[in-house]
Amino acid sequence: MIKNPRGLSSANIATGQDEASELQLSDRQYRLWAEMLENKTGVRIAAHRDDFVRRQIVRRVNELGFNDVEDYFREVAQPGAGNREWGVLLDRLLVKESQFFRHQASHDFFKKRLLSHLLSAQQGQRYSVCSIGCSTGEEVYSLAMAAFDSCRAVEQTPAFSIVGIDVSAEAIQAARRGIYPNRHLQSVPEPLRDNYFTVATDSSMEVKAELKKRVGFFVSNMFDQNCPGLASPLDVIFCQNVLIYLKNWRRRDLLNSFVEKLKPGGYLIVGPGELNDWQPEGLSRVAYPGIQAFEKLLPIGMPAGK
Ligand SMILES: C[S@@+](CC[C@H](N)C(=O)[O-])C[C@H]1O[C@@H](n2cnc3c(N)ncnc32)[C@H](O)[C@@H]1O
Repeated sequence: MIKNPRGLSSANIATGQDEASELQLSDRQYRLWAEMLENKTGVRIAAHRDDFVRRQIVRRVNELGFNDVEDYFREVAQPGAGNREWGVLLDRLLVKESQFFRHQASHDFFKKRLLSHLLSAQQGQRYSVCSIGCSTGEEVYSLAMAAFDSCRAVEQTPAFSIVGIDVSAEAIQAARRGIYPNRHLQSVPEPLRDNYFTVATDSSMEVKAELKKRVGFFVSNMFDQNCPGLASPLDVIFCQNVLIYLKNWRRRDLLNSFVEKLKPGGYLIVGPGELNDWQPEGLSRVAYPGIQAFEKLLPIGMPAGK
């Protein structure tokens, strides 16, 4: 990797401002980057983010001191070291916004299904959940708080695992740390905040160890068939605010690949409006107000509750 051969000042490296006027990304070059992003992650850059993405690429080229954007492209396209650099750039390009209990109705549905699992003949069997595109962990910890609370409510030992996967290494690191600014916790009901967080600093709180112990986070691409969170049969796949970045055909391929990862009777919960009228084969749409979720059909002859 070329390290700052143009002798840029650290102030310039930090802002990328001055060099942005020296180095330009042509429309053709920009299209190549956008294609690379889409081929590797499925994510399409929305038109309103074009300028931001262009600036981030030029800024990174400046930080590393490449004389030419093409040289940087070749570097990133290389296997090995290129993959590492791609990871750095990717962290800057993706939208990683998240919130605790972001779509309340979906979380209510999740809790309801889990409670009915705990009260059914299947109690004692581990309940396995994967959050796809979990970003900085808020979704996973929201599901874990609901799961813990449900187990306590029916006086059962918690027997669940919730795994989050995201292609962004930076997001996964933050998720594992589990420390959030106080303002991010506004959507967490007070009793849950009291039970599952401790004060980290004046302005932040940390997820308690007993909750962290029940969750796992992996850097992984959701299109990877060997993705760690999708290895064993799942009761729930939670995938919200991720599909919106994908072309329709990619959404369909991805969701079809999820069907085989679900247990019969398992649920796929996506964001409302993320799929329109289409549904993956082998799933039936769940009738529950305000959510978009699907249940995997039981094989013919299998009694419900198996
Ligand atoms: C807007 S965030 C959604 C976070 C969370 N699901 C929520 O609703 O609050 C989208 C996340 O999807 C992740 N992502 C995008 N493409 C991905 C891929 N191919 N594999 C895994 N994660 C991906 C991004 O890194 C980002 O963290």
